Amino acid sequence: MRSSRNGNGSDVLVIGGGIIGLVTAWRAAQRGLRTTVADPGPGGGAARVAAGMLAAVTELHYGEQLLLGLNVASAARYPAFAEELTAASGQDIGFRACGTLAVALDSDDRAHLRELHALQQRSGLRSEWLTGRECRRLEPMLAPAVRGGLRVDGDHQVDPRRLAAALLTACERAGVVLHRDRAERLTVSGGRAAGAVLADGTELAADQVVLAAGSLSGRLAGLPDEAVPPVRPVKGQVLRLTVPPAYAPFLSRTVRAVVRGSHLYLVPRENGELVVGATSEELGWDTTVTAGGVYELLRDAHELVPGITELPLTETRAGLRPASPDNAPLLGPTALPGLLLATGHHRNGVLLTPVTGDVMAEVLTSGELPEVARPFAPGRFAPAAARVPAAPVSQEQPA
Ligand code: GLY
Repeated sequence: MRSSRNGNGSDVLVIGGGIIGLVTAWRAAQRGLRTTVADPGPGGGAARVAAGMLAAVTELHYGEQLLLGLNVASAARYPAFAEELTAASGQDIGFRACGTLAVALDSDDRAHLRELHALQQRSGLRSEWLTGRECRRLEPMLAPAVRGGLRVDGDHQVDPRRLAAALLTACERAGVVLHRDRAERLTVSGGRAAGAVLADGTELAADQVVLAAGSLSGRLAGLPDEAVPPVRPVKGQVLRLTVPPAYAPFLSRTVRAVVRGSHLYLVPRENGELVVGATSEELGWDTTVTAGGVYELLRDAHELVPGITELPLTETRAGLRPASPDNAPLLGPTALPGLLLATGHHRNGVLLTPVTGDVMAEVLTSGELPEVARPFAPGRFAPAAARVPAAPVSQEQPA
């Protein structure tokens, strides 16, 4: 364990108290590091909006095979992580081993899903091709138009709001100090990160600073150019409906599809909540819920599951995914000594929470980024001269 040079400071200051910042703080505190979190609303952020799919297999995209290795590693950690966090917080996080069904509505969709199936098989992932009739036997509310689908029994779900609340409690119980204010400026002293100044003027000193502020990570004042993370916001509008007991079970597992080129998913919770998402919009920091966004989601969901229009619509909300240039997170040391990143998780923040906590705690205590995270070191986006040396890794990742 590193020891703090700052008598009244922390070993670690985490800027950002979303699920990624909180899991980093919790895991760091568990390792004996004196840890502080700065965030005006800890437990908020994108997790307030996210559906909570743990979709390592069904969200596989071409060109993202490297990310697949990290996604699969984190999915494998989820059962034990959920158990440990529930014990530490006394709160259930809604982890549900429900599986996922990805379906096709027309022949183009079916061709796309067939290709995804082939890619999954080449990557060593388990999924099973079903006919339309077999899909409807599993999920009777599906439209007669469903032409086929992929059954993925290993893609589960968690409730991100409960996850965030449990992480906050676990942090408090582990002795993490929470400053409910915005970090305005990074402090740099002697060529290394030394803490941050909050909006109310409070100065926080720390041996190491973790920037985990989601899509806002690049906006912290005081960051030297070479350490500014290349993250941008990608807006997602999400709906929440309620399945009345008389309609249950409406869906028994996550159902997803690509409708007119847009990704659509319906995530049913045990408490009757049905989450429908999500738009994907490059509009800066705008979080307006629009009539068009709600219309498109409901129109597409209705095509997939016609009975959805009978359900009460209980919430509409928009959040911001923190996207990096290669859609993968930035984890570990930056070109500025003492400053680390845990951001850029894009579509996979909830899925990657367990592995991010483990990886960040390890690098904070030992200075070494674990092998599973080395392809995601921030230096991959830096100009060659500013790169932080990392051990060479193969492009091939085990599935
Ligand atoms: N992972 C789902 C989304 O980003 O919409």
